[in-house]
Amino acid sequence: MTTLAIDIRKAEPRDADAIAAVHHEAWMGAYCGIIPHRALARMINRRGGDWWAGAIRRAASVLVIEIGGTIAGYATIGRNRARQLPQQGEIYELYLKPEYQGVGLGRRLFSAARRKLVGHGLNGMVVWALEENHSAVAFYAGAGGRDVAEGVEVFDQKALKKIAFVWD
Ligand SMILES: CC(C)(COP(=O)(O)OP(=O)(O)OC[C@H]1O[C@@H](n2cnc3c(N)ncnc32)[C@H](O)[C@@H]1OP(=O)(O)O)[C@@H](O)C(=O)NCCC(=O)NCCS
Repeated sequence: MTTLAIDIRKAEPRDADAIAAVHHEAWMGAYCGIIPHRALARMINRRGGDWWAGAIRRAASVLVIEIGGTIAGYATIGRNRARQLPQQGEIYELYLKPEYQGVGLGRRLFSAARRKLVGHGLNGMVVWALEENHSAVAFYAGAGGRDVAEGVEVFDQKALKKIAFVWD
């Protein structure tokens, strides 16, 4: 039996292509049939390896979870963008490749992201999820998030409800 090491660390520019692949597969898996196809394809195509390398170099906080040398998922974190919510931190995105979902890695990455925000001196945290993304909604509710606000995101004229989960 082999034991695979699980490592959660800050992303480096050399991870950019692997993160782009996670982004592509996870977004197709999560949003196909929810976000209109053309809008989804546009969003995915915009975020190739070069885009991610730029984001990592611009000091955006990107974390990756690596299993036995393979990037299985990523999270992006920073200051909360919603002025109406008092929490200071936000997980902007948290995505795993479909084949790595459902085995506890999301929870580990989530906890690491939360610790990192606290380490940056940001108290409290927000995460937004599309209401129709049932697995994400179940995941954040299961992680103790309180749903305190909602908003609307429009993709090619299709309006989708989003929910804000918060942790104090
Ligand atoms: C949502 C996501 C981050 C969860 O990570 P994960 O590794 O699959 O979840 P975990 O295995 O760590 O599960 C943790 C808990 O989340 C809940 N959960 C996760 N997936 C679920 C699902 N599909 N349905 C119901 N509950 C689910 C479970 O309650 C689980 O708790 P348990 O241990 O009591 O069973 C991951 O599945 C993912 O990347 N999904 C696609 C992209 C996405 O939707 N990202 C979030 C965008 S806001």
